[in-house]
Amino acid sequence: MSPRETVNDAPQRQSPSDASGEPLRILLVEDVAADAELLLRELRRAGVRCATQRVQSGADLRHALHHFAPDVVLADDALPQFSALDALHVVQRERPLTPVIIVTGSLNEETAVSFIKEGAVDFVVKHRLFRLGPAVQRALALRRALEDAAVAEIARHRAEEELRRQTEFLSHAQAAAGIGSWEWDIAGDCITWSDETYRIFGVDPAAGPISYERYLELIHPDDRADVAAAVGWSLQTREPFALDHRIVRPDGSLHFLHGRGGIVTDASGRPVRMLGAVLDITSRKQAEEALRRANDRLNAVIQSSPLAISTLDADGIVRSWNPAAERLFGWTAEEVIGRPLPAVHGEADEFRGTQRRVMQGEPVTAVEVIRKKKDGTPVTVNLVAAPLHEADGRITGILGLIEDVTGVKRLEQQFFHAQKLEAVGRLAGGIAHDFNNLLTVITSCSDLLLEDLGADDPKREDVAQIRKASESAAALTRQLLAFSRQQVLQPQILDLNETVAGTEKLLKRVIGEDIQLATVLAPDLGMAIVDPGQVEQIIMNLAVNARDAMPGGGRLTIATANTDMDAAYVQDHPPARAGRYVMLAVSDTGTGMDASTQAHIFEPFFTTKPFGKGTGLGLATVYGIVKQSGGFIWVYSEPGHGTTFKIYFPWAGGSAERSAAALAAKPQPGTETVLVVEDAASVRSVMRQVLERYGYAVLEAPDGETALQLAAKHHGPIHLLLTDVVMPGVSGRQLADRLLRLRPGIKVLYASGYTDDAIIHHGILEPGIAYLQKPFTRDALALKVRAVLDGS
Ligand SMILES: Nc1ncnc2c1ncn2[C@@H]1O[C@H](COP(=O)(O)OP(=O)(O)OP(=O)(O)O)[C@@H](O)[C@H]1O
Ligand SMILES: [Mg+2]
Repeated sequence: MSPRETVNDAPQRQSPSDASGEPLRILLVEDVAADAELLLRELRRAGVRCATQRVQSGADLRHALHHFAPDVVLADDALPQFSALDALHVVQRERPLTPVIIVTGSLNEETAVSFIKEGAVDFVVKHRLFRLGPAVQRALALRRALEDAAVAEIARHRAEEELRRQTEFLSHAQAAAGIGSWEWDIAGDCITWSDETYRIFGVDPAAGPISYERYLELIHPDDRADVAAAVGWSLQTREPFALDHRIVRPDGSLHFLHGRGGIVTDASGRPVRMLGAVLDITSRKQAEEALRRANDRLNAVIQSSPLAISTLDADGIVRSWNPAAERLFGWTAEEVIGRPLPAVHGEADEFRGTQRRVMQGEPVTAVEVIRKKKDGTPVTVNLVAAPLHEADGRITGILGLIEDVTGVKRLEQQFFHAQKLEAVGRLAGGIAHDFNNLLTVITSCSDLLLEDLGADDPKREDVAQIRKASESAAALTRQLLAFSRQQVLQPQILDLNETVAGTEKLLKRVIGEDIQLATVLAPDLGMAIVDPGQVEQIIMNLAVNARDAMPGGGRLTIATANTDMDAAYVQDHPPARAGRYVMLAVSDTGTGMDASTQAHIFEPFFTTKPFGKGTGLGLATVYGIVKQSGGFIWVYSEPGHGTTFKIYFPWAGGSAERSAAALAAKPQPGTETVLVVEDAASVRSVMRQVLERYGYAVLEAPDGETALQLAAKHHGPIHLLLTDVVMPGVSGRQLADRLLRLRPGIKVLYASGYTDDAIIHHGILEPGIAYLQKPFTRDALALKVRAVLDGS
């Protein structure tokens, strides 16, 4: 059995029907059909057009509430299982706006009040059903009013929700953008901040709105006046303001803000409010600061770089030019920036080619090119060039690093020069070895001849000529060996004052009468360590040069002095080393030299003298001796103002205890046995002749092996080994060592014209070694042999 009696199956509607429109939908909660009919008749009688449905249980009621959607529910209070109050509760739960009218058989006041309290809109007693029509109409009116109120409530709720959503959106947007907003009620002096503004200022939102004064307190003291001025200006001009400033948060941290604000005026134009926003730009400021510092550092590097650094733009216009570039090229930054690079030398093809390559993205690494200085002189530079890129990868210019390699080039040349010298030296040494043997023979044989010839023999003159020529030849080989630093130096502790005094007589003869000789000798002069023969040669070479520079006469001064070279002096005078030196200075008042001549004077074979006059070996020889002696030489000269050479010899320590000048001794004869070892037969024979003349017994051998065999076979004593140093097979040194094992106590004298490192170190004779330089004279040989045998 269907619980429904559908009279009119109307669709669900939003609002109740009324008399003029569709029939009312009335749901009857009634178990007795006749009673229901009674109610309907009464409604019809009251003129209510309606469709009805009848239900008897809670489930049916719920179903009908949703599917029949009644405008009014009439609930009979007499149902045995389902009271009117039950029905009322179901309706309130399911369809709270649907009015319920209780229909009851009898009603006392108490029950009625309780129904109304529970929410029924009305009640009708069954025996007064004429009230039903008006009650329904009232209920409908009530329902309509309730529905209107509900709609209004929903709209209000929606609006609130929308506002909340927008506020939340704004708050999120502000937080995301780091922008805080504010509003200042000027009259009320109350600033309202958004959440983000509180966060930016580091203030707890619980603190509530703040005053303008409090706001100013949060501004950094140094920026406070600026902010106040900006706000004041805005109030005065009605113009919006914008400025960057710092704040100090309550926790003490510093932040950078960008603030903007503008005035809102009332109808009369008076400012009433100010609205604005703040943006926390601390990290941007920090990044800017970091960038600025990085830039400063980079700039410092560029400014102090020893490398010239320059940038060109795409059109070849100079954009930067560092101090090293100014120094290298001579143009100041002011002169070149904004102009095309002026340092292009000669043909510009190379320059343009390089520029094009780099602009196409191809870096140039370490090429040697020639550029031009401001004064026009070309300069060899090492160039590194790289393209400058824009952020999008576009090439906008060129960075160039330029190193002046002129100095390096010069060093290279000096190195080549040293190599050349060494080669010449080797050649000279090789020649000298053989040459000195020949000269030994010529000199010694002339001596022997002169001894043999009678005092008035007409041949004496010729022999003397030969003897003189061989002396000159010997001097020349000595020079060759000296400038190539191949000679054997025999340094002694020497008083330079004595040496100068000793040469004075000869000097006067060399320089002639037009030139005055002066000596300025330090009385407390320290002892120098140097080979005395070499010092004489130095003085002579310098004096001869001085003479040649003073063709019209002048003054030659020779001075000595003690000198201390300190670190500062040494720094300015490479390759000097700090320490004490004994100085010898030779000055003249002659023609002097210009810088380009001075640059070459120590080179062998450099001469400005006419052909046949000078060989160009004088100063090269001096230089070689000084270097080999561990000293230094400098020249000071100006054209027209004379020249001074200063030579520094190593100091021997202590003050001079003057040694008596060695007297030119006459050689003494001897009877000892001398073993002469020499591969050059002529030299060997000359040695034998000289020694035999002085009374010695002589054994001779052409080489080391033969000498050893001879020594083994010889029964008598051998007192002295006189040996050449450089020989094929066993060398002089090896021979001496082996012979000493065979015959301990034997004395050794080396004779050589040119020697390798067997008995010398860096050109200095090893201590304790007796040595005779070839070519030697008869007397020199006899003196040396006697001296070695006597152990002095
Ligand atoms: N006192 C000086 N005054 C001016 N010029 C000098 C002086 N000493 C040297 N010179 C210059 O230096 C050059 C080289 O000198 P150096 O003694 O090496 O060779 P030389 O004198 O020309 O030849 P040599 O010495 O071999 O006979 C000289 O030709 C001269 O031009
Ligand atoms: Mg000279």
